[in-house]
Amino acid sequence: MVYPGTRPTVLKNRRILLIVSGGIAAVKIPDLIRRLRERGASVRCVLTESGAQFVTPMSLAALSGGKVFQDLFSLTDESEMGHINLSREADIVLVAPATANIMAKMAHGQADDLATTALLATDKPVMIAPSMNVKMWEHSATKANLATLQDRDIHVVGPGAGDMACGEVGDGRMAEVMDIVAALTDFFVSRAALGPLSGQSALVTSGPTHEPIDPVRYIANRSSGKQGHAIARALADLGANVTLVTGPTQEPDPDNMTVVAVETADQMLAACTAAAPVDIAVCAAAVADWRMAESTTSKIKKTGGASLQLNLTENPDILTTLSKAGSSRPRLVIGFAAETENIIDNGIAKRDSKGCDWIVANDVSAGFGGDDNTVHLITEEGADSWPTLSKKAVADRLATHITDHIKKS
Ligand code: CTP
Repeated sequence: MVYPGTRPTVLKNRRILLIVSGGIAAVKIPDLIRRLRERGASVRCVLTESGAQFVTPMSLAALSGGKVFQDLFSLTDESEMGHINLSREADIVLVAPATANIMAKMAHGQADDLATTALLATDKPVMIAPSMNVKMWEHSATKANLATLQDRDIHVVGPGAGDMACGEVGDGRMAEVMDIVAALTDFFVSRAALGPLSGQSALVTSGPTHEPIDPVRYIANRSSGKQGHAIARALADLGANVTLVTGPTQEPDPDNMTVVAVETADQMLAACTAAAPVDIAVCAAAVADWRMAESTTSKIKKTGGASLQLNLTENPDILTTLSKAGSSRPRLVIGFAAETENIIDNGIAKRDSKGCDWIVANDVSAGFGGDDNTVHLITEEGADSWPTLSKKAVADRLATHITDHIKKS
C-alpha cells in the first residue's frame, strides 16, 4: 500500500462519491472527508437513513463543502443531480462505513434507497470499508456477500481488529481513516500503472490561444479549456503518458501529466511538435485562426475617430499539421469541430479537409464555457450522436472509444 504522505498529489481533483451507511464508525467520516479534501479531492456525500443516526447531514455538508444527498424521491435533488448522474460523476464510489446490511444489499442488487440505487446504477469503481460487530463480520452470510462483491472487483479496505464500540474484541473495526486515504491513493496509482492505455503516449491541446495585437491587447476566444483538460485527465487515468499543451485557462493543472502552458498558436504548434511522436493526439484547443501579420512593440494609439484596419494573417493549423505528419503521424488523430450550424455536415467536411481520423463536432451557438457538451463523434463509419453529457462524461466516453480503437489497431 502506498503511504499517502509520499504521493501527496494523487488524490488532487479526484471526485469521490462517499456513501455513509449506519455504523458507529460513521463518526470518523468527517475526519476522512477533511483528509481527502486536504489532498485536493472533492467529496460528494450520500447519507443513508441509518447513517444519519450517527453523523449529521449538517456536519457532512460543512466538511464536504456541498449538498448531502439523502432522499431517492427528492424532486429538487433529482432536478439538480439525478441519482444516475450522482453515481456517474465520480471517479470512485466509496462506501464508508459499509455495514453488513449495505454489503448484503449490494451483493443482491437491492436498490431501495438513494445509496443502494446509486451503487446499482454506477459504472465507476467501488470501494467499501466494512464496519460491523465481529460476529456479524464472521457470519457465513457476510462472508458469502463479501466474496460476491470481491468477484465483482469491488475494492475492500479493512476491516481491522481491535476493541469495538459494542464491547467485543476482534475483526470488524472500520479501517483507520489514513488507511482508507492510502487505499484510495493506491487505487489511483495502480489504475494508471495497469490501465489499458499504459505504454501509450497522448498529446492533448486545450483552451484558447491569445494572439497579441500590441503589447497590451490580444485576439482570443471564450474557450474555457474544460473539455480538453477533462480529456487529458481521462486518458491519464487510463494509464496514458499525457502531454497537455494548454492556452491560458482557469483550469487547474492536472498533476499526473506533463503540462506545457503556451499563449499563441505558434507556441502551441512548437510544443506539439516537441511532444511528437505520440500514439494519440486530441486537438481540443480553440486555436485563434488569425494573428497579426506583423508584430508591434508599441501600443497602437486611437485614430481620432477614423476606422482602424488590423492586418491579420492565418495561424498554422495544428490539427492538420499533426494529421499530415507522415511517418511521425500519431496512430489516432482526433479533432474538434466547433460549429454553429449544420454541425454533422460541417464536422464531416472538417474531418476530410484536416485529414484527421475522428472529429468531435459540437454546437457552440450557445457559447463556450458551460459544464455540459452535446457532441457527435464522426469517424470513418459515420456520425454517432451522443446525449448531452457533462464534459467529464464526454471525456470518459471518448477515452473509452480511444482505448477500444488502440487495442484493435
Ligand atoms: N485547429 C488547430 N489549429 C488551428 C485551428 C484549428 O489545430 N489553427 C483545430 C482545433 O483544435 C480543432 C479543429 O482544428 O480540433 C477545428 O477547429 P475549428 O475552430 O472548429 O475549425 P477551424 O479550423 O478554425 O475552421 P472554421 O473556424 O473556419 O470553422
